[in-house]
Amino acid sequence: MSQVLKSSVTLETLTNLAKRRGFVFQASEIYGGVAGVYDFGPLGVELAGNIKKAWWDYFVTTRANIYGLDSAILQHPKLWEASGHVAGFTDPMVEDVKNKKRYRADHLAGIDSNDLAELSKALKGKKSPDGNELSEPKVFNMMLATHLGAVEDKSTISYLRPETAGGIYVNFENVRETMRAKIPFGIGQVGKAFRNEISPRDWLFRKRELEQMELQYFVRPQNEKEEYENLRQITWDFFEKTIGLDKKKLKWHEHAKEERAHYAAAAHDVYYEFPLGFKELAGVHDRTDFDLKNHSKSSGKDLGFYDQAANERFTPYVMESSVGLDRLFMAVLSDAYYEEEVKGEKRVVLKLSPTLAPVQVAVLPLSKDEKLIPLALKVYEELKGTLRTEYDETQSIGKRYRRQDEIGTPLCVTIDFDSLKDKAVTVRDRDTMKQKRIKLSNLVENLEATQNE
Ligand code: GAP
Repeated sequence: MSQVLKSSVTLETLTNLAKRRGFVFQASEIYGGVAGVYDFGPLGVELAGNIKKAWWDYFVTTRANIYGLDSAILQHPKLWEASGHVAGFTDPMVEDVKNKKRYRADHLAGIDSNDLAELSKALKGKKSPDGNELSEPKVFNMMLATHLGAVEDKSTISYLRPETAGGIYVNFENVRETMRAKIPFGIGQVGKAFRNEISPRDWLFRKRELEQMELQYFVRPQNEKEEYENLRQITWDFFEKTIGLDKKKLKWHEHAKEERAHYAAAAHDVYYEFPLGFKELAGVHDRTDFDLKNHSKSSGKDLGFYDQAANERFTPYVMESSVGLDRLFMAVLSDAYYEEEVKGEKRVVLKLSPTLAPVQVAVLPLSKDEKLIPLALKVYEELKGTLRTEYDETQSIGKRYRRQDEIGTPLCVTIDFDSLKDKAVTVRDRDTMKQKRIKLSNLVENLEATQNE
């Protein structure tokens, strides 16, 4: 029997577990790291991949009128002028006048505002975290720029995309035409985005190289409100039902006008209770015809839609559902984290769902005895084609169970000396720690069925 000690976790505990168990490493750690940039380790890349697959299946594969896309990170620089990012993708910033360190002005002022006058007032008399004078707040563009080609001047400037959405809008006509799509239809995309955050912090929460999973849904202007509400519900259900996050840790946050991005007429964030408190996990935005109209104007290519039946031409409105993979990864890990007491000892367990768990089954010979290893390896070979399986013969069986609990493996299969005689193995359930004896002849079917329960 186990007793739950804790079902919440601090950021420090989570970061340590993620590093110790191979989920997340700081990028270039041996050189001191890069602020706001992280690498997914062997288990992290599996978990992230499973989350992306869950998103893709839910938003793209299972919907007849949603198409996938993988557009380039580097696009024409005019895209980001037309989208308003060159002029408007900014954060307010202040500088420590002595050591030149930069900070988000709104964070230091402790107010939720982008208004420079308001920020200047709120910062009067305040010092930098190092105790020095601060500059006046000014705007800072967050796009990361580079140069394409051999010449480094204004004409070769190019941007690493700050959101994946841009690549979708410029492919609106390509997808519509090739897929013979009619309004409403949508385009989904998963990929990297880059933001030169002034103060990257809180682990995966505010990164400079991040990954987004975004759906842009093109609708009739007159259906704006209804489609927006519909997409909000679809987005919410993804977190609650498909990913299975704790409902009590989810809530909506409606953006006030001043809070909205430059393209949004309405915006609702899904907030999740991270170890840092309730914060933005995802956003649903009504982007109106802002993007398609601006790209039509700027490129000279009309991105309107002609409805033959009604004999009318209009520019579709865009409803957007956007979530950061990194924030969802963090939410999934913290939601799954439990500390329990088992026979006077603490055990840490990640109660990840079998669809998301990096390893679904661990195959563990009771010991390194040479009589057990061949059978254990045979079981591993049989399972690995069907389930994500790990083989582990190191350390004591108790330590190996603890490791599998901590990385969230739902089932462990143990091969013992009886297995050699009765052709059966012990299957241990991560959450209940109950064990049952299963015949080798129907092990695969049994484990598959258990995973789907
Ligand atoms: N296309 C709309 C868009 O990019 P956003 O609210 O700026 O909207 C969408 O970002 C989502 O991307 C956020 O809800 C968050 O999950 C994630 N995100 C944004 N900035 C991030 C950062 N610096 N680090 C990690 N995730 C971030």
